Amino acid sequence: MTDPAIDAPPIDAEALRERALTTLTTARTRTTLLTSCVEDPDLTAQHSPLMSPLVWDLAHIGNQEELWLLRAVAGRDAMRPEIDGLYDAFEHPRSERPTLPLLPPAEARAYAAEVRGRVMDLLESADFHGTRLTQAGFAFGMIAQHEQQHDETMLITHQLRKGPQALTAPDPEPVPLYTGPAEVLVPAGPFTMGTSTEPWALDNERPAHRREVASFHIDTTPVTNGAYQAFIEDGGYDNERWWTAEGWAHVRKNSLYAPLFWRRDGKQWLRRRFGVTEVVPPDEPVVHVCWYEADAYARWAGRRLPTEAEWEKAARHDPATGRSTRYPWGDADPAPEHANLGQRHLRPAPAGSYPAGESPLGVRQLIGDVWEWTASDFLPYPGFQAFPYKEYSEVFFGPEYKVLRGGSFAVDQVACRGTFRNWDYPIRRQIFSGFRTARSAGDV
Ligand SMILES: [Fe+2]
Repeated sequence: MTDPAIDAPPIDAEALRERALTTLTTARTRTTLLTSCVEDPDLTAQHSPLMSPLVWDLAHIGNQEELWLLRAVAGRDAMRPEIDGLYDAFEHPRSERPTLPLLPPAEARAYAAEVRGRVMDLLESADFHGTRLTQAGFAFGMIAQHEQQHDETMLITHQLRKGPQALTAPDPEPVPLYTGPAEVLVPAGPFTMGTSTEPWALDNERPAHRREVASFHIDTTPVTNGAYQAFIEDGGYDNERWWTAEGWAHVRKNSLYAPLFWRRDGKQWLRRRFGVTEVVPPDEPVVHVCWYEADAYARWAGRRLPTEAEWEKAARHDPATGRSTRYPWGDADPAPEHANLGQRHLRPAPAGSYPAGESPLGVRQLIGDVWEWTASDFLPYPGFQAFPYKEYSEVFFGPEYKVLRGGSFAVDQVACRGTFRNWDYPIRRQIFSGFRTARSAGDV
């Protein structure tokens, strides 16, 4: 099975081998950090019913790597067939995973390392032609993305974990308070959404297709803690008019009053961030809000959430060429001056950071910092084909999931593109989720 769209570019096998090696190694370094900064009891404990024990993620990472690279690509036999069921995410919901006879930490580490050793041997002689799975090293890229996505999940577990700080990282560079335009006009017209050429893009990002988008304004930066506090102080959580019916029911039932991890202390707001309590910084993009909160804030502000197509047009459309670029800043892979990615920092950077990463229209921080809720349900693009398995995306399509775009500070660049789509339930807020707002060009 070959895909003409990804057959097109010539394959530089040595460059691909290098890229696969670098991305897999980067992911494993991060996995090791996230699973070695706490003692074994913290690896086997369930810190929240929403999350797996860290030791489950660790062995699941190894198991998926074995399934796809050693078995599907290389045709090897299962190393430990008896554990496959334990680490099948569809067989056991997260809440059930602590009750399973999981591999203890030392064994989970040894298993993941053994798989990785064999994968390194395979990579040395890999042929990047042939099946769609091997073409352009797709399966290696998919596995590196998978590990990085679990690293983000494990970072969420660390954020939910009670107890002292286990992780540290330098803060982002301080920047002068952003005083540029609050919003940017995106002119009407078609643009190319999705991709057919990005070799490691996942099935839900494909294929590239034209979308007509009416003119709209979009916030230059994500909504900040300071702006969100004004919504709280104005009684936003107590006023039904800002909420959808489902959102209002959810807020009432769960007594929500502020983003997750916030609490009021006299006149100020404090938040807990990776084991440290601190004053909420007003200039930073708000994080840990659910879709209902983002949607209510936007309505209170006289605005709305951007659709997914609007978000991607603001991020990728270059009016000078009519082309969609890979990232807001162009086609180059992300560098530290473009975006806050890869857990370099354990927080979003202040609004207005990374001028080198802005889009041609001047929109900032679309990539990195916080995942951005959009107004859109998670749906397939026209011409979608499930690959390499239905459980990657297809089983999730539908109105129960909302799309998030752009990636957070916890996302590695291998799992982040201008076309990358994330999805979650509208009630979720343990994720590193924020948002920006938009308005149709005719609206005031
Ligand atoms: Fe997974």
